Amino acid sequence: MNLIDTHAHLTFEELSGQLDDVLARSVDAGVTRWITVGTHVADNEQVLRLIDKYDNMYGALGYHPHDAKDISDADMELLKQQAAHIKVLAIGECGLDYHYMHSPAETQQRIFRVHLDIAADIQKPVVIHTREAFDESMAILAEYAGRLKNVVIHCYGGDVEQTRLVLDRGYYISFTGTVTFKRSEALREVAKMIPLDRLMIETDCPYISPHPKRNIRPNEPALLIHTAQCLADVHGMEVEEFAQKITQTSEVFFGL
Ligand code: NI
Repeated sequence: MNLIDTHAHLTFEELSGQLDDVLARSVDAGVTRWITVGTHVADNEQVLRLIDKYDNMYGALGYHPHDAKDISDADMELLKQQAAHIKVLAIGECGLDYHYMHSPAETQQRIFRVHLDIAADIQKPVVIHTREAFDESMAILAEYAGRLKNVVIHCYGGDVEQTRLVLDRGYYISFTGTVTFKRSEALREVAKMIPLDRLMIETDCPYISPHPKRNIRPNEPALLIHTAQCLADVHGMEVEEFAQKITQTSEVFFGL
């Protein structure tokens, strides 16, 4: 297998301190490329360092909605400059998180729009984080209809109706280990609806270790194979064939 972990936080200290070992285990498991996702100013700088160091590692740069209140115009200008790097494949993660509300909703919305302006300007895909803010996120994305290269909703947890809307819009859907959890029957039913040319997978490591490895902390890219196996079963396919299809989807999405 040659899976791509389309959303990992390899800069986070749980993983960065043992990164060579983490990546070796990943390659052994068949997860051979990684997109490491930046979430704040210092983290984005770390992403740039890692993608310059490791051949099969790529980046996405953005500011997490939690921190929206701390983001200045200069920070957004810096992001735009950094995003021109050839191995930065996407803008994000960005979006709205009304679960924690670490930043006021209006501030989150404003910063989200600036990310989308940049993604539209430089024509790179955008990685969306949305939590308890589905309708609001979709409304803001609708303002950019026809202007964004590609859109993925990361760590997907939508219901049937929401998923129809996401697919109608032409967006992509990315699943983490949450889809493997025993209680996630409904989410697996949703996963069945999604054609493989719109479906991607990710670890979101160091978080969300998949079943049956939920006791392993931190999560790491090698464990992505359990999410692949779960979704291959959902789609009634052999995991190798499933992996080949969604790797192709990820290559198309990110322009790899
Ligand atoms: Ni993430």
